[in-house]
Amino acid sequence: MWTAGINIHEVKEIRTRTTLYFGVGAITKIDPIVGALKKKGIASVLIVSGKGAYIRTGAWDHVKAALDKHSMKFALYDGATPNPTAEQVDAAAKLGHMIQAGAVIAIGGGSPVDTGKSAAILLRYPGKTARDVYEFRFSPEEAVPIVAINLTHGTGTETNRFAVVTIPEKEFKPAIAYDCIYPTWAIDDPALMTGLSPAQTRYVSIDAVNHVVEAATAKTANPMSIMLAAETIRLIVDYLPLAEKDPKNLEARYFLLFASMIAGMSFDNGLLHFTHALEHPLSALKPDFTHGLGLSILLPAVVEKIYPVRAKVLADILSPIDSSLKGTPDEAYKAACSVEAWLEKSGVPEKLADEGFKESDIEKLVQLTFHTPSLSGLLSLAPEEATEDCVRWIYRNSFRPIRQRPK
Ligand SMILES: [Fe+2]
Repeated sequence: MWTAGINIHEVKEIRTRTTLYFGVGAITKIDPIVGALKKKGIASVLIVSGKGAYIRTGAWDHVKAALDKHSMKFALYDGATPNPTAEQVDAAAKLGHMIQAGAVIAIGGGSPVDTGKSAAILLRYPGKTARDVYEFRFSPEEAVPIVAINLTHGTGTETNRFAVVTIPEKEFKPAIAYDCIYPTWAIDDPALMTGLSPAQTRYVSIDAVNHVVEAATAKTANPMSIMLAAETIRLIVDYLPLAEKDPKNLEARYFLLFASMIAGMSFDNGLLHFTHALEHPLSALKPDFTHGLGLSILLPAVVEKIYPVRAKVLADILSPIDSSLKGTPDEAYKAACSVEAWLEKSGVPEKLADEGFKESDIEKLVQLTFHTPSLSGLLSLAPEEATEDCVRWIYRNSFRPIRQRPK
């Protein structure tokens, strides 16, 4: 396998729309990045992070040293939580405005990075708020430069144009996609990820699996999204058990991180549909609900629903999970059961009923799926027509394991 020939301790420069430093030790590249910002005439930056991971992982020591060395003024917003809110984005942007920040350095998983990307827009549009952005009252064309220091191997947000923020009073969790929020630079350093708990490890990798299942089967799928999907799933099936067994296994973290990064590129090309559109209402209803867990719960029913119209592609990309799939539409239930069995084997057997959702929530979830800004756009990309009945069917079949469903 090609992965055996890679020296994971050599920091490589990977070019996408972002210039990405990848490998063990990549965090040291923050020094030349801050130097480059300074050269562009930027004198102050907004740092966006969650509460503690940026310190715990050791990332902050490197960032602070680089800021000091280059005499870069900074303001730190460390209030980004999982499922970050519009208030958090506004608070971060306010801090940035106070020092006239000319760039954002976001340190964390998807939530701090998406908060940072959103604040980077507001720093270019002083009169606007996060609600203006996420309720689509205007379309930003500019943001200040973004540096993404990634601390999880799931979202792929460090190298794509997406961000997600919750509007709590409306129970909305919309997604935005703008060219201006591609990070200019990103750092993917697997050594910053060895402290992820076993549960986080599973959830973030399952997020990446969902990105590619959707990106490879959407109406907008292209050969690039499909090719990256196949490799993503193969790497995760191979390396997730190794990271589970030994969280400090740097080779496993390296390839799980590579998988999540190319999954981010895959959905930047192919976009997303059912699983993400239906997961966002779950975490909008329960703000502490984990994105990857919600996706895991929904995935088997989504696979069963879309398999008949995307049998060939799904049989191919799911082959590391079930090599007996031939790519014929009648295998939908079998494919869904195989995916469910793999998720269970990977330590995520939960379904909606286990997480406190009630069947009486289904109607509300269906309505949120159709009425949350941006989610209808995702639904329109689903390979199977996303009627209310179809969405209802997916939620209903995610309450209990598909394999226990009465025939
Ligand atoms: Fe995701």
